[in-house]
Amino acid sequence: MSKYVINGGKKLNGDITIHGAKNSVLPLLAASILTDETIRIGNCPNLADVENMIRILSALGVQVEREGNYIEIKSGGLFAYEIPKRQAKELRSSVFLMGSILGRMKKAKVAYPGGCDIGLRPIDIHLKALSELNVKIVEKYGYINCDATRMRAANVFLDYPSVGATENIMLLAAISDGTTTVSNAAREPEIIELQKFLNTMGAKIDGAGTSCIKIEGVQKLHGTDYYAMPDRIVTGTILMAVAMCGGNVLLNGTNYTHIDSLISKLVKSGCNIAVKSDKICIQSSDRLASMGYIETGPYPGYPTDLQAPLVALASTADGTTILVENIFENRFKHIPELCKMGANIKVKDRIAFITGVKQLTGAEVVAMDLRGGAALVLAGLSAAQLTVVHDIQHIERGYEEMDKCFVALGADVIKIN
Ligand code: UD1
Repeated sequence: MSKYVINGGKKLNGDITIHGAKNSVLPLLAASILTDETIRIGNCPNLADVENMIRILSALGVQVEREGNYIEIKSGGLFAYEIPKRQAKELRSSVFLMGSILGRMKKAKVAYPGGCDIGLRPIDIHLKALSELNVKIVEKYGYINCDATRMRAANVFLDYPSVGATENIMLLAAISDGTTTVSNAAREPEIIELQKFLNTMGAKIDGAGTSCIKIEGVQKLHGTDYYAMPDRIVTGTILMAVAMCGGNVLLNGTNYTHIDSLISKLVKSGCNIAVKSDKICIQSSDRLASMGYIETGPYPGYPTDLQAPLVALASTADGTTILVENIFENRFKHIPELCKMGANIKVKDRIAFITGVKQLTGAEVVAMDLRGGAALVLAGLSAAQLTVVHDIQHIERGYEEMDKCFVALGADVIKIN
């Protein structure tokens, strides 16, 4: 297994361009099979999760070609409607394919999805929403068999604003008879992006970004050429790295409006941040003040995907931060690893009490999941002495060449395969 060896304590300086958003490109790839015409998506990050999605699409008979950051999808040859267990386990996002395979083939057989081990991650909200659209669902031997031949547009209420369930319904209802509405829909920027993408394919969707989305079904979608949005979680992770290590960094090709909830906290803690069009400039020189009370929540709340990096940051801030994880029940696996580096963190159920120490000390730690792994890298960058982060394959699911990104900013990171 590969690892990062980090000689910490270096300030970060320079500029960096943020890569495209994994969590947006994955549903866009799923949406691409709703037409047999050619789709081109730009700004696709080179990440394990994206490669897994491409593999799944190829196994279904879809022709997928990557040229640099562009991916071209031609699904005229789509012949299968089943996602095998082994592939679904690799990628939770295979669950969106349920909506798009059903939209195109009217049948889908999908194994229960995998992804990061950060909690139960059930798909009951997806299934309930599909049955409200009169999709027949039979669960057998770890597979979900869906039949949408008698699908009917309806008003669907989500018991929780699940990102994936909102995307699945948009994908299925985009090609259908009648108008479907989703109430209590997720409001994440990735949902707005999916609406924009589908509308450039000829869909008639309105309301993304609010909690009520209206999908007027059309009979056919067509090809498109689209440039994906920047990754707000990568943006946030780099901002926090600079905040922790000190330095002056310009982030290009990003969207500051997507991470207001983080920027306001960094400013309160003592960072200087300036934003303009697609740029964010961050400067940090002194020890940060603690963050007070923070809880994760659905957008526009503080993102759960930036919880682990924030715990790393709070570990060296001056004072106590109280952090409540409301979205996933098993998302504190980075905390024992941070404690090996000298962090002072107590956990009670879903609440972490973090009392900042002046500096962490390097140690051998293990990445248990994607964002928790990123938090350990941040801790290592700011710590005294050497940190070794093992099992970085988790990190590589969501951050493109994280080592090179920080080396370009002056950090001392070596990847060992
Ligand atoms: C997406 C993101 C993930 C992010 C999460 C929350 C992608 C590929 N992944 O995941 O990075 O952390 O949003 O912002 O976009 N839930 C149920 N039943 C369901 C569906 C969800 O109980 O049927 C629960 C989940 O277990 C979790 C919460 O609802 O506790 C949020 O899940 P959801 O919004 O669906 O997240 P994902 O779409 O899986």
